[in-house]
Amino acid sequence: MKEIIMIIRPQNLEDVKEIIESINCGGMTISTVMGCGSQKGNVKGFNEIKGFKTTINLLPKIKVEVVVDDKDVETLIMSVREHLVTDHVGDGKIFVRNIEQAVRIRTGERGVKAL
Ligand SMILES: Nc1ncnc2c1ncn2[C@@H]1O[C@H](COP(=O)(O)OP(=O)(O)OP(=O)(O)O)[C@@H](O)[C@H]1O
Ligand SMILES: [Mg+2]
Repeated sequence: MKEIIMIIRPQNLEDVKEIIESINCGGMTISTVMGCGSQKGNVKGFNEIKGFKTTINLLPKIKVEVVVDDKDVETLIMSVREHLVTDHVGDGKIFVRNIEQAVRIRTGERGVKAL
C-alpha cells in the first residue's frame, strides 16, 4: 500500500475527488493547508523580484491524502496530472510514501482489504 499526498489548487478539489472515486479506493482525507513551492509563494515570478529581498508568502492549498493499493499508484498520478496540468506554476505536487499497515477498526480487516 502507498499513501498519495497531493497538494493542489483549491479549485481542483472536485476534479481530484472524481478521479479518486473512479479508481474505486476506499476513502480519502482532505485538509485545507497553507504552502509554497519553489517560487516561495511569489505569484508575480522571479524576474520582477530579482535584486530585492523577498519574503516567503504562503498560499491557500488543499491537501488530499489517499491510501491505495500499489497497483493504483501510477493510474492515480497520471490521471491527476492529465486533469490538473496547466502552463502555469503552482499546479501542485504529489508525494508518495509507503504504508506499513491498515486496519478497519469495525471488522479487524487488515491490509488492502481494510482500505
Ligand atoms: N518540497 C516540498 N515540501 C513540502 N511541500 C511542498 C514542497 N513543494 C511543494 N509543496 C507544497 O505543494 C504546493 C504546490 O507547490 P507548487 O506546485 O508551487 O510546486 P513547485 O515546485 O513550485 O512547482 P511549480 O514550479 O510548477 O510551481 C506548495 O504550496 C506546498 O504546499
Ligand atoms: Mg510553485
